[in-house]
Amino acid sequence: MEGQIREIEQKSIKEINEAKNLKELNDLRVKYLGKKGELTTILRGMGGLTPEERPKIGSLVNVVKANLEKIIQERETKYQEEELNKKLEEETIDITLPSTKTKRGSKHPINRVIEEIEDLFVSMGYDVEVGPELETDEFCFERLNLPKGHPARDMQDSFYITNEYLLRTQTSAVQARTMLANEEKTPIRMICAGKTYRREDDATHSHQFGQVEGLVIDKKENNVSLADLKGTLEIFVRKLIGENLSLRFRPSYFPFTEPSYEVDVTCFKCGGKGCPLCKQTGWIEILGAGIVHPNVLKMNGYDPEKFGGFAFGTGLDRLAMFKYGITDMRYLYTNDVRFLKQFDRKD
Ligand code: DAH
Repeated sequence: MEGQIREIEQKSIKEINEAKNLKELNDLRVKYLGKKGELTTILRGMGGLTPEERPKIGSLVNVVKANLEKIIQERETKYQEEELNKKLEEETIDITLPSTKTKRGSKHPINRVIEEIEDLFVSMGYDVEVGPELETDEFCFERLNLPKGHPARDMQDSFYITNEYLLRTQTSAVQARTMLANEEKTPIRMICAGKTYRREDDATHSHQFGQVEGLVIDKKENNVSLADLKGTLEIFVRKLIGENLSLRFRPSYFPFTEPSYEVDVTCFKCGGKGCPLCKQTGWIEILGAGIVHPNVLKMNGYDPEKFGGFAFGTGLDRLAMFKYGITDMRYLYTNDVRFLKQFDRKD
């Protein structure tokens, strides 16, 4: 029996050394050491041995089994290492390869202008307000002293969604919202920039455009005056478009301000000498402004005997055009990447 065991040992070692992979090794483990393996079968047949032989054969089988297990494990470790090394080699990443370029977007020129205006006014103590683009007739017109049927409504051709709802034609609607929401009726300094809509579409107008609105209301005794309005707008224009620019106030009409003005700025192209851009006048109109009308104060909860202030509004598109020297308004809305990527700067 000892000879038989040694024979199995020789045979299995040979086969283990010839095994080509982990699977073959495992098959051999089953074949020789498994429950139905050749060595186990021998152990089972020990019943026919003499009592002296039994422990000798038993321990021999165990020694051989342990030896085989050791050899199998050594081979297994070798194959596992080889497999891992192969994988590592195959899966190395060449970090020197150039990466695929992802295209980065850039801030739209109008958003740049909005951010700059907001920063400037926040630095002067203003709050930034927002209002809905789908606005009610009440806030867009009525509370701004433009009752239904008022002829001045004709200046703003509107998109009505229902009889009561329209796409706001002016950010002035946010004036009324801010006043009414301020239940304590404390002084107001606010700026609001956003989208506005009118039914017009040609080379110099777009059905969607941007406006920025400003409103200051304070107690009468603080005397918020036209001089404050002018000083504020001068800072605004000089910081945003160019130092050394002057302002000119021309009397005008807006239903929510009295007196009302259209505000011109020195033509930044010719410096005021006269050129095709300013139609030889030396001035370019940029703003509407005035002293808040008593009716507007009253309708939105402020006693006109006790409070007063100024308001102004302007188009963001024109400001962006002046600031960046953009010649055609349509560039701002046609999403031409060649145009937009020129604003991809860190500033
Ligand atoms: N909302 C006016 C418009 O769209 C502009 C404007 C004029 C705003 C005078 C004002 C203002 O706040 O006081 O034409």
